[in-house]
Amino acid sequence: MNLKEIYMSKVVTADEAVKKIKSNDRVVTGHAVGEPIELIKAMVNNKEAYENVEIVHMVAMGKGEYVAPGMEKHFRHNALFVGGTTRDAVKSGRADFTSCYFSEVPSLFKTTLPVDVALIQVSSMDEHGFFSFGVSNDYTKPAAEAAKIVIAQVNDKMPRTMGDSFIHISDIDYIVEASHEIIELNPPKIGEIEKAIGENCASLVEDGSTLQLGIGAIPDAVLLFLKDKKDLGIHSEMISDGVVELVEAGVITNKAKSIHPGKIIVTFLMGTKRLYDFIDNNPMVEMYPVNYVNDPRVIMQNSKMVSINSCVQVDLMGQVSSECVGLTQISGVGGQVDFVRGANMCKDGKSIIAMPSTAAKGKVSKIVPILDEGAAVTTGRNDVDYIVTEYGIAKLKGKTLKERARALINIAHPDFRNDLMVEFEKRFSCKFW
Ligand code: COA
Repeated sequence: MNLKEIYMSKVVTADEAVKKIKSNDRVVTGHAVGEPIELIKAMVNNKEAYENVEIVHMVAMGKGEYVAPGMEKHFRHNALFVGGTTRDAVKSGRADFTSCYFSEVPSLFKTTLPVDVALIQVSSMDEHGFFSFGVSNDYTKPAAEAAKIVIAQVNDKMPRTMGDSFIHISDIDYIVEASHEIIELNPPKIGEIEKAIGENCASLVEDGSTLQLGIGAIPDAVLLFLKDKKDLGIHSEMISDGVVELVEAGVITNKAKSIHPGKIIVTFLMGTKRLYDFIDNNPMVEMYPVNYVNDPRVIMQNSKMVSINSCVQVDLMGQVSSECVGLTQISGVGGQVDFVRGANMCKDGKSIIAMPSTAAKGKVSKIVPILDEGAAVTTGRNDVDYIVTEYGIAKLKGKTLKERARALINIAHPDFRNDLMVEFEKRFSCKFW
């Protein structure tokens, strides 16, 4: 059979494909905006055929119908990262959370979390029989490699990305054809606070730096203040639209990168069609699985590596909680610690945790004497280095506990500084000033 005939022999409808899932199977679904919407819809419609199917994923952008109340008999969600669609289910006990570094997820699929079925979304097949993972390579490609059964939603709107980003027809069991736009994530609103944080972060970025940027308003605000820098590079877990602008402006050239010079290295991305058109068949952008991109031993090989991530709370020792509000799990560690460690290990690197000084519309300080009861520490006090708010920059590495606390109180919101100083004096039995 030629490639086209092999392809046709594997084409089924979504309803037929999901019948290959059996009760008690572990199903891993494609990540973030790479989510195979049609397959998930069909799986949920077929729920009466299943008992105890475990659904594993990280960021989910769809509706998450399988975690709705009443679905427990059919599906059990095991979240490796909690998001808007899954927060309630984890909090109310209908879903589980497995805490792990993003970089180690592929190895979990080979050890404690073997994959029965991978539901993935890929681009159209090329003339050599390869499909690209497009917007989401991350754990999706490793899940497909580990799975007993691979069901691929082939979407002709999925961009074709380069790097180690392909799967061959011989490694796909069933093909479901679809044609819909990739889910878009509109750029966040950047207010005055985010701009001030962005400007402070940008002051730490030297010409020739390689950047990792997390998701949200703060990373986008940082990009606004990088327009005068030269020869920046990207080695990041993810990118969004802001990066395209800086490439077009000639700021991101990747020329000074010590590994993968000339290339943007990334494991997944989320943005608008502008970003998806930019990455399509673009040799400047290479996507690799997350066990490579997020490996601190790889990250550290970049010169002037700067990582920028955000958090929920920082205590006066510099312990960073990025994934919990008290006992409530609101997200996950994701790649934060992978990049903090990689940037710290890089000889001229910097790891930055950037956040607004307050939350809940200014009612609570994010810099606190003690983390909320039950909150997990995401980045430990021995890993943390720069903390940035709209009020300035605190460098914590190599500092005493008192020096750390003073530096953090100085960048807290002025409304909360007095209370924090009182706590400082109680804790350290000495005057703040
Ligand atoms: N006290 C109480 N609630 C707080 C809080 C605090 N100190 N800080 C944040 N929150 C609440 C917010 O009010 C918001 O609640 P809502 O969703 O009900 O409105 C929620 O927590 C999320 O905060 P927000 O500021 O909107 O989040 P964000 O989109 O800027 O993301 C993190 C911030 C920390 C959640 C996010 O960066 C994250 O998940 N980090 C860990 C993973 C990571 O760093 N990955 C690597 C990069 S991709």
